[in-house]
Amino acid sequence: MGYVGWRPARDVLLGGLRRLEYRGYDSAGIATVTPGSDVVDVHRAAGPLDNLVRVTDAEPEPEGVTARTGMGHTRWATHGPPTDRNAHPHRDASGRVAVIHNGIIENFAALRAELEADGVELESDTDTEVAAHLVARALDELGPDDDSAGFTTAVRHVVNRLEGAFTLVFTHADRPDEIVAARRSSPLVVGIGDGETFVASDVAAFIDHTRDAVELGQDQIVTLTREGAVVTDFHGDLAPTRPFHVDWDIAAAEKGGHDFFMQKEIEEQPAALADTLRGHLVDGRIVLDEQRLSDQELRDIDKVFVVACGTAYHAGLLAKYAIEHWCRIPVEVEVASEFRYRDPVLDRSTLVVAISQSGETADTLEAVRHAREQRARVLAICNTNGAQIPRESDAVLYTHAGPEVGVAATKTFTSQVVACYLVGLALAQNRGTKYADEVEREYHQLVASADAVKEVLATAVEPTRELARELAESKAVLFLGRHVGYPVALEGALKLKELAYMHAEGFAAGELKHGPIALIEQDLPVVVVMPSPRGRATLHAKLLSNIREIQARGARTIVIAEAGDETVRPFASVLIEMPAVPTLIQPLVASVPLQVFSAEVARARGYDVDKPRNLAKSVTVE
Ligand code: F6R
Repeated sequence: MGYVGWRPARDVLLGGLRRLEYRGYDSAGIATVTPGSDVVDVHRAAGPLDNLVRVTDAEPEPEGVTARTGMGHTRWATHGPPTDRNAHPHRDASGRVAVIHNGIIENFAALRAELEADGVELESDTDTEVAAHLVARALDELGPDDDSAGFTTAVRHVVNRLEGAFTLVFTHADRPDEIVAARRSSPLVVGIGDGETFVASDVAAFIDHTRDAVELGQDQIVTLTREGAVVTDFHGDLAPTRPFHVDWDIAAAEKGGHDFFMQKEIEEQPAALADTLRGHLVDGRIVLDEQRLSDQELRDIDKVFVVACGTAYHAGLLAKYAIEHWCRIPVEVEVASEFRYRDPVLDRSTLVVAISQSGETADTLEAVRHAREQRARVLAICNTNGAQIPRESDAVLYTHAGPEVGVAATKTFTSQVVACYLVGLALAQNRGTKYADEVEREYHQLVASADAVKEVLATAVEPTRELARELAESKAVLFLGRHVGYPVALEGALKLKELAYMHAEGFAAGELKHGPIALIEQDLPVVVVMPSPRGRATLHAKLLSNIREIQARGARTIVIAEAGDETVRPFASVLIEMPAVPTLIQPLVASVPLQVFSAEVARARGYDVDKPRNLAKSVTVE
């Protein structure tokens, strides 16, 4: 983030970084600019933000000196290990120019070699540092220039030479009232306050101070002063901007009495589901948020691809069950990082549904771009208003889960699932594979899912926590499911891996006998997501046999089953009950105990639930 204004910059930056820490916590740093100083002051520390706070506390500003311009960064390491030396900000040799950076400068090796040939000594292993040296050199080449545009011009020269995805923010010792930032691919928003301006990867950084923001587009440069922001493109021409008002407040980004964000976010799921569904049935028809496609174009769709990563991919797997069932068109689901590298068959009648909470995941964004190059239509499901993926899509459906601070996706996952179902219903109504009253009935069932999730939160959380504490020292946990229970099993395993650093695998239960059953040993915990004995009687019977097979081999069976499912009780070492709901709604309720389970195991093992190691919430590199 960057700040120019009237408040003490250190306080603004450390407060803002606290809210951005979910984006990376390998190291943190700030740079501040004080009028009259020859250099930009930099403080950096490897590890979490608290380490940086200790460093700044130990080195207070001199009596009577308060910087009111500066920038701060939390790092998720790409080039160079997470040490103090590689922490951002980086400065040029004179210390006058400083830079922070998100993304990857792909041609940094060539630029580094060029600088070294010029006699410049680089201090870090990062791809970032070259940008500070290049801007300093460009400023020297531009010559003495009192006009403030000189700083912006130098940045423009440099960003035009960079390849890759980057967001860069620069400060300059000679320009104590100015910040220049540039954006390509990685997100960047500007906050406009009263006599102060902000720039950050996420509005959360400045939501304490202002809710008036301006979205920056691709390949734009912003020059910030106390008076406001001037946005130009990479050619130097004024660029159109889109102001917006942030519709959530600071309370939404705080723990509100919970021990950790993930716990709060798990509990927010009924509201997130209700908010995501609200307003999408108008006069008996499902409506999306943005649709730059005609109804006829939607009707012409004869194939759907769903692309997403991680948890969003699991939501995509569930989309397949709903869309194929309701619309009778083939649906393929693929992890976004694989999609564009295998030449998928796409044309104008293909709909690519891109699911991304952040709307900025590089793998998913590149998959969207590839799809559009092949003339496919793209529909984005996203939780972040105006993010890059929805901007580049033909249609958008927003999930209204609110800010999710915990790195592990919870409320955004279940919201993505209902959003996928809404897309399925929109396609079904368009194609005429469902009557209007059927669409309406399905919609109301989705709305009722919020109450079912409320119920499972009330009944299943405490027993699950107890179980998690008991199993916290297990070496591994397996997860089994069939049909819509299969993506739930995959998601349960992913959550446990990422939070508890425990070996966890999810399987389609029918696949067990084809290999994974060899993993079963005495007392191995196996979580089984049971289908409804009413809605899915055949599958229920088959899964019951699978449970018997693993129990006979000594597994400890933890069964998530519909309340009143007595047939499963004798085979469950532990039974967690969930309310009876329609088949497609079951993943929404069955996921809740698995979220609670992974969070509680992580806690019992002494890990930071909101900031699991090696991860970052927004993955803006490929
Ligand atoms: C896991 C998790 C990740 C994300 C993935 C995609 O809990 O959060 O697997 O789901 O990185 O992120 P988005 O949805 O922002 O594209």
